[in-house]
Amino acid sequence: MTASDCKLTNSWISKVDLQLIGQQVGTPVFIYSQEQILKNIGRIKDAADAAGLGSRVELYVPFFPNSNPHVLKPFQELGVGILLQLPSEYRLLRKFGFDKFIVSPGHVSDEEISFWDRAGHPTFLSSLDEISHSLRTEAPSISVRIDSLESGKPGIKLSELESLADLLARHGRELDCLEVYCGSGNSLDDMVAIIEKMFTIFQTHFPNAKSINFAGGHGFVYEKWDEAEKHFDWGQYFQALRETADRMGIPEHVAFLFEPARDVLADTGALLLSVERNVITNSVGSLVVTDGSRMLMPSAQLRDRRHNVVFLDEDMREIPSGYDTKSVQAALRGRSILRHDYILPGEYPVPEGVDSRSHMLILDVGAYCATQHMEFLNIPPAAEVLVDTAGSTHLITARGDDLDKWRHLLDEQQPVKR
Ligand SMILES: Cc1ncc(COP(=O)(O)O)c(C=O)c1O
Repeated sequence: MTASDCKLTNSWISKVDLQLIGQQVGTPVFIYSQEQILKNIGRIKDAADAAGLGSRVELYVPFFPNSNPHVLKPFQELGVGILLQLPSEYRLLRKFGFDKFIVSPGHVSDEEISFWDRAGHPTFLSSLDEISHSLRTEAPSISVRIDSLESGKPGIKLSELESLADLLARHGRELDCLEVYCGSGNSLDDMVAIIEKMFTIFQTHFPNAKSINFAGGHGFVYEKWDEAEKHFDWGQYFQALRETADRMGIPEHVAFLFEPARDVLADTGALLLSVERNVITNSVGSLVVTDGSRMLMPSAQLRDRRHNVVFLDEDMREIPSGYDTKSVQAALRGRSILRHDYILPGEYPVPEGVDSRSHMLILDVGAYCATQHMEFLNIPPAAEVLVDTAGSTHLITARGDDLDKWRHLLDEQQPVKR
């Protein structure tokens, strides 16, 4: 194998005992690296420090893109908070010892707003109506979510900002924090352009706010192999933030919040599957038959996300794949009958040597993957394991039972009575 053929050489996954996981846990299994989480948070913090923003930058990683508290546990030590959207998430994470939260709940009832006010964590409300409730009940702090795209996303629209400022003034209240989510996977230039827009909203409407929440949307390039090329350039971004804040005269006491998900989580996970048969070639094309399913991580197909893939032999050694290896273009078949059950979109080069003893690794599945498991097609959820910084492997989610889909099915019909 030439160096260029070894795709995993510099990746954390090359140090993981995949044979142990395959034998003891089986496939399909999501594998996460604690080391990579620490590295990804470290990269952002170092960039903030380098721009002189270390004390002003606060990170809150959303819970919904990877909803396993074991995976997120290192955040407790790192001072990284969690972004919540549901009371059930809060209950679960409290049980696991998390206590630093912000809440972006979408549109919710008055009862739920009061729940979050009692919990005492900054809650970003999405409409004038919802904010009116918090003002009526004299909530301890008021924060809002703004939809800068004027889209269907929950959020106060730009055209409503003046009404919001008037409403707050009538109640003699100031905004604590404003959150603007500007869409996912933006380029560095897009994100830099948004900084000025947000500072303008702050200065025009809420100059006394204590913090500004830039939310997520920091791009991650799934198709790249090199770590430096995959990740968002936080170094340049924070420099631009610093310069823009100075130029526009944003007061030093204003904190900057961020809610990155894919940049922090995507490359902390890999999905290990078994290849079930030798490659099938028919008049329509070629297929690799796996024990995966698009139901394990539906967003790859939905968002047309091209994850990198590596094939392994029966001993879990990487099978060479590069310009000088023979390969066939094949679709990656999931294990259900459904026509569209391909775990990833499109075709992938499958190197010679892949057969019914092989395995397949799908990379960069730490965000928006296991958490999106769907029950349609009756496929049970995959197991999840975590590899800690000492290299030890821990089972953190048991594999779904074969009868999982029907776990709430009653043996007998129960009459519903008054
Ligand atoms: C409110 C909010 N914050 C943060 C994120 C994370 O975004 P990303 O994965 O682009 O970092 C999302 C993603 O949908 C979001 O809705």
